[in-house]
Amino acid sequence: MYDLRTRVVARRRIGRELVVLGFEAASIAEVVRAGQFVNLGLPAGPLLRRPFSVHTAADGVIEVLLKAVGYGTRLLTELREGDLVACLGPLGRGFELDPDGGPVYLVSGGLGAAPMPLAARQAARLGLDVTWVHGARSAADLNPEWYGDRVLWATDDGSQGRPGPVLEAIPNSPGQILACGPNPMLRALAGRFPQAQVALETHMGCGTGVCLGCVVPKRGGGYDRACSEGPVYRAGEVDWDRLPAHLHYARVPA
Ligand SMILES: Cc1cc2nc3c(=O)[nH]c(=O)nc-3n(C[C@H](O)[C@H](O)[C@H](O)COP(=O)(O)OP(=O)(O)OC[C@H]3O[C@@H](n4cnc5c(N)ncnc54)[C@H](O)[C@@H]3O)c2cc1C
Ligand code: FES
Repeated sequence: MYDLRTRVVARRRIGRELVVLGFEAASIAEVVRAGQFVNLGLPAGPLLRRPFSVHTAADGVIEVLLKAVGYGTRLLTELREGDLVACLGPLGRGFELDPDGGPVYLVSGGLGAAPMPLAARQAARLGLDVTWVHGARSAADLNPEWYGDRVLWATDDGSQGRPGPVLEAIPNSPGQILACGPNPMLRALAGRFPQAQVALETHMGCGTGVCLGCVVPKRGGGYDRACSEGPVYRAGEVDWDRLPAHLHYARVPA
């Protein structure tokens, strides 16, 4: 884990409300795995740093994909090239890929696209076939950048790709599923594919296993810390009835 004071080196807007920021972070870029995250903070910003999945990592730069949903994310989306940021990571446990596990389906709803470019790259390095299934409310909310061998789009309003929930675009025997998105979407996925790996949304404080702000209820009892034992879980391991469903991702229809 590295605790860096770094600069914004790239910024681009994609889609209606999505911003991609790039930071100089060679040490993190070298070791980060898909599904891991960084905690970002501003010198003059909110007290607690905020967690973001690493979107891409190349040439000494890591990118995050973000949307303004509150005070911290609004300040971050307003950053410009050259601005200073505190960056701690990589944090958490990422997705696991089995070289003998068959084709890979990356399933993302809305901002759940965030960890998928790294996942596509890791899968390609193992020689696995990659299909990215990405859904959102409408075409303007989709992340237009995609990686892998093919992409299947789905929108609730039918404005791009298949109309309806993203999960309906997944075939019945898909091989390996890596998913990220609103918790209700991941819960629905768990009902159909309990072996799928899901990157969960929780509130986080420290990001390093100390504050217990990120607990994830497990089926069969007990809790995990999403920042340390997660945020990636097998869908069937999570007690979805007891997981908070009020986070902003949860407001995006599955
Ligand atoms: C492991 C992990 C990876 C994440 N990756 C990304 C990412 O790649 N891109 C991205 O845009 N966001 C990501 N998030 C969500 C992001 O961290 C929150 O949106 C952010 O912390 C909100 O901060 P804020 O100050 O803007 O919001 P606040 O002003 O604190 O809250 C505004 C609203 O956001 C909700 N909220 C607060 N914290 C979270 C949270 N952790 N998750 C979901 N909703 C929250 C609150 O309930 C409230 O409704 C991730 C969260 C986790 C736990
Ligand atoms: S965020 Fe503090 S223990 Fe996980």
